[in-house]
Amino acid sequence: MADGTSENASSNQMWGGRFASGPDAIMEEINASIGFDKKLYAQDIRGSIAHATMLAHQGIISAEDKDKIVHGLNTILSEIEAGGFEFSRKLEDIHMNVEARLATLIGPAAGRLHTARSRNDQVALDFRLWVKEELQKTEKALSALIAAFLDRAEEHAETVMPGFTHLQTAQPVTFGHHCMAYVEMFGRDRSRVRDAIVRLDECPIGAAALAGTGYPIDRHMTAAALGFREPTRNSIDTVSDRDFALEFLSIASIAATHLSRLAEEIVIWSTPQFGFIRLSDAFSTGSSIMPQKKNPDAAELVRAKTGRINGSLIALLTVMKGLPLAYSKDMQEDKEQVFDAAESIELAIAAMTGMVRDMTIRADRMKAAAGSGYSTATDLADWLVRAVGLPFRDAHHVTGRAVALAEQKGCDLSELSLTELQAINPAITEAVYDVVTVEASVASRKSFGGTAPVEVRRQIAWWRERV
Ligand code: ARG
Repeated sequence: MADGTSENASSNQMWGGRFASGPDAIMEEINASIGFDKKLYAQDIRGSIAHATMLAHQGIISAEDKDKIVHGLNTILSEIEAGGFEFSRKLEDIHMNVEARLATLIGPAAGRLHTARSRNDQVALDFRLWVKEELQKTEKALSALIAAFLDRAEEHAETVMPGFTHLQTAQPVTFGHHCMAYVEMFGRDRSRVRDAIVRLDECPIGAAALAGTGYPIDRHMTAAALGFREPTRNSIDTVSDRDFALEFLSIASIAATHLSRLAEEIVIWSTPQFGFIRLSDAFSTGSSIMPQKKNPDAAELVRAKTGRINGSLIALLTVMKGLPLAYSKDMQEDKEQVFDAAESIELAIAAMTGMVRDMTIRADRMKAAAGSGYSTATDLADWLVRAVGLPFRDAHHVTGRAVALAEQKGCDLSELSLTELQAINPAITEAVYDVVTVEASVASRKSFGGTAPVEVRRQIAWWRERV
């Protein structure tokens, strides 16, 4: 048989020595992980090649056996990549599927590969290698998203829009400044990814079942061969630790939360009522019944992906909670959560990068909205403090009366006449009109991290060096 089992073998060839009969069908179904952990085939084979090479180097297996093993493993790699490999559920998982096939290909030498290791350290290795690669991909994807935002921020360093708190117009800001807020968020996500890679970068192989091994292995050699900084230090912790997976999921959850906030803003901004942006055709869909509609489906799906990613984090936290040291089979449930979250976060970041790059910014609409809602009231109050010398609390009161008057007249603050303003406070002069426009408002906010175009450009330059 292609999977290396013989038709009449009723007990498992890997651990069957102690068992008289094969597993019940239900047992086989609940026990097997090959349906999902076959995703780890490349990592499994890489790990086995490094392990066999080290075993030979240490004189634990012969160079001849090592050559056969490495050759056989490379053959299996090509078979899997060509799609010709038959995975068997009877063989439980990727580790035993590969090893059984190796036995068919090279005979008894295959049995020497599993010297001085266990599936416990093997799966810890395979999974760490996989998560490490995924983190590296995530780092790249986040950098691309940040770069897309920097370009939009640069283009729109002077474009005014309303800034919101409570989703109520607060003060005018620039669209560039708003973009840079997301750069900060995704920048933190990226730094979390980098931190996680540093912590993950220890090699588990050689911890064996949990206690280490009596064979004279060289764990520093396998660690280096597999691109890890160093071997893990405690064999018990090594086979029971899934922090690297939990960290990946928490990083993904926080990033997904950021993406969902952006997605929500895109949904709001692209409504006809707001009309701040127009999504490209590439990232929106039409309605089958309402011809006028252009729906922000991609943004909505990004917003929704947060649910499943958060779900995966909670699932794995719950699996790991209360597990005694060291390995327990519960931990086999780690992979599907991470695989699913990885696929979702990759897709969500890519879709968002595309939307940010492609969307049309409607500066005229943003500017019109920026001026409504008395967004420059704070500027008027600040001017009363600066130019008239009022205490801020009094200035707040005077401004409140001006807003009430404008509201009553149905006009903007800058449209009140000097006479009207002087009726509220006689010390007000013509110069007030220089601060109550939205452009003057944003230009004045030059404080470090503020919304003034000159300051936004400084923030962009700081980030350009870091992408
Ligand atoms: N398929 C297992 C997993 O994913 C591999 C480790 C099995 N170890 C064991 N002692 N049964 O966790």
